[in-house]
Amino acid sequence: MDGKAMYKLSYGLFVLTAKGDGAHADDNGCIINTAIQVTTDPNQISIAVNKANYTHDLIMKDRKFNVSILSEKAEFDTFRRFGFQSGRDVDKFAGFEGCYEKSANGLLYVTKGTNAFISGEVETTLDIGTHTLFIAKVTDMDVLDPDTPSATYTFYQEHIKPKQQAPTAGKKTKTVWRCRICGYIYDGEELPPDFVCPICKHGASDFEKVEVEA
Ligand SMILES: Cc1cc2nc3c(=O)[nH]c(=O)nc-3n(C[C@H](O)[C@H](O)[C@H](O)COP(=O)(O)O)c2cc1C
Repeated sequence: MDGKAMYKLSYGLFVLTAKGDGAHADDNGCIINTAIQVTTDPNQISIAVNKANYTHDLIMKDRKFNVSILSEKAEFDTFRRFGFQSGRDVDKFAGFEGCYEKSANGLLYVTKGTNAFISGEVETTLDIGTHTLFIAKVTDMDVLDPDTPSATYTFYQEHIKPKQQAPTAGKKTKTVWRCRICGYIYDGEELPPDFVCPICKHGASDFEKVEVEA
């Protein structure tokens, strides 16, 4: 079985935003690759969100969210801001002024490096283990940049994520495991099968064995 088959699925990439709970920042968001339209009449979308994410708890509570569709103009900084840290620890919208707007449902959506947004109101939740699958009716949507294609996961890997440096020839190297999503390094010969990336929360199957300078 070749786990890389999963990379042949054509995922998009999105900033999923929700209303803060008052205890932390007022608005929050995280990167997801799991937004899809599931029915057209009524118009419904689904998102799968890790239960460990702050955004998950906010959507569970408020039952509303926005999905901002990342375009090929998206910068790595947006992934770092929304995907590599938690709203429990930082205000992800601080210093992001001019890069977002508020939609009719009162939630923020990202306007920088995105080409559209969709607002959802949760109708059904399904517990699928590590994640909750939210199915929501579409309450609002708009195109923000009609000319720029949406970013796919492959586009992110090839054009947005910084390239890793190959070790300099002749330098001593060691074997480590690197997260294909965010670049986090697990320093060790063997990666525990239940390992979860502390930065982007992806599992062991998203790690690759690489040689780096010792
Ligand atoms: C490329 C990429 C794709 C991701 N896809 C998902 C996803 O589909 N579902 C999810 O729950 N988290 C996903 N994440 C992880 C969250 O964005 C990440 O854990 C984030 O820090 C959670 O922030 P929060 O605690 O403020 O909600 C992804 C991260 C990256 C970088």
